[in-house]
Amino acid sequence: MTAPADLAAATVRWTAVCTLDDLAPERGAAALVDSEQVALVRLLDDRVLAVQQLDPFSGAHVMSRGIVGSRSIDGADVPTLTSPMYKQVFDLQTGRCLDGAGKAPLDLRTWQVVVTDGVVHVGGAR
Ligand code: FES
Repeated sequence: MTAPADLAAATVRWTAVCTLDDLAPERGAAALVDSEQVALVRLLDDRVLAVQQLDPFSGAHVMSRGIVGSRSIDGADVPTLTSPMYKQVFDLQTGRCLDGAGKAPLDLRTWQVVVTDGVVHVGGAR
């Protein structure tokens, strides 16, 4: 985990959005960061990942209501988020569209997240 000193040293602007306890494992939650809607997902290992709340395929802000899962890619387990609308599957770590469900892939933006003293901070978009 990243220490508070690292937060201060970074040029990224961090926004405290909630506590880790506010997030249920493997369930998404929506947060507003610099007036942009972000979908937060807490994994079973307490890592928190953030992608855009906007579903690029449907145009609806619904990604926090997506289905959290995982896929094996090149032998590694990759956490995924499946859109609740048309079931496109995204890599939660990179935002990459893994399955366009018949459409040309569109990726999600991702944000840096650190959890410090039980508080979830979202940083700049990657
Ligand atoms: S460093 Fe921001 S709330 Fe702890």
